[in-house]
Amino acid sequence: MKITIVGTGNMGTAFGKRLTASGHDVTLTGRNLEAARKLASSLGPKAKAAPPDQAASGAEIVIAATPYSEQANALRSLGALNGQVIVEISNPLTPDFSGLAIGHSTSAAEEVAKAVRGVRVVKAFNTILAQVLAEGAELGRAQRTQVFYAGDDATAKRAVRSLIESVGFEPMDAGPLANARYLEPMGMLNIYFAYSAKIGGRIAPVWLRG
Ligand SMILES: NC(=O)c1ccc[n+]([C@@H]2O[C@H](COP(=O)([O-])OP(=O)(O)OC[C@H]3O[C@@H](n4cnc5c(N)ncnc54)[C@H](OP(=O)(O)O)[C@@H]3O)[C@@H](O)[C@H]2O)c1
Repeated sequence: MKITIVGTGNMGTAFGKRLTASGHDVTLTGRNLEAARKLASSLGPKAKAAPPDQAASGAEIVIAATPYSEQANALRSLGALNGQVIVEISNPLTPDFSGLAIGHSTSAAEEVAKAVRGVRVVKAFNTILAQVLAEGAELGRAQRTQVFYAGDDATAKRAVRSLIESVGFEPMDAGPLANARYLEPMGMLNIYFAYSAKIGGRIAPVWLRG
């Protein structure tokens, strides 16, 4: 698949590694083009960098890997988006990282979908920490790590499901985009376990089936 990643921080870098290792063609972009170029050259021939207004043309999926507060700005910087599939991965943390800034009656994913014209937003990967994404889905248990995904457009969800499978994780359909209201608190709990409870970054929630 041709995939564009906006943002070159922890998650942008982890996606770059995992996606290129899985054979995808990756275009990196962000407000710091030099950082995107540097990351692309470290990832090898399957990766390239492009300025934001050229980065999404021809992309089958765009991964929004910026903080929630910048998601809409970062996506708008890509220019006109004609039904583009956006993977919205954020946990909308407060500035001091102590909790979620929004929730219950809306979610980061729904707000981004409202704020950016011409996109089909699918929430996914917000419960996957950068370390797990970079290292892979196998955490040493019998069951693969699940990626929960939620959205309102069936075709967009199918594309994201394929993406999740292609990088070795188990896709778990979490229903409509409004269910991001449940996924984002789950992401926050995951952050609590990893950092406040000091379990560390090699953890992920999974839904067990009997
Ligand atoms: N880290 C995790 O383990 C994890 C796990 C699940 C979900 N998430 C979510 O993933 C997202 C990214 O997290 P992260 O840890 O990768 O953050 P990060 O390391 O701080 O990286 C954020 C990236 O976004 C870029 N950026 C910020 N504003 C931008 C804009 N307007 N246009 C283009 N690029 C912009 C930053 O560029 P500059 O260098 O110029 O600031 C930076 O490259 C967040 O929404 C977070 O909640 C993170």
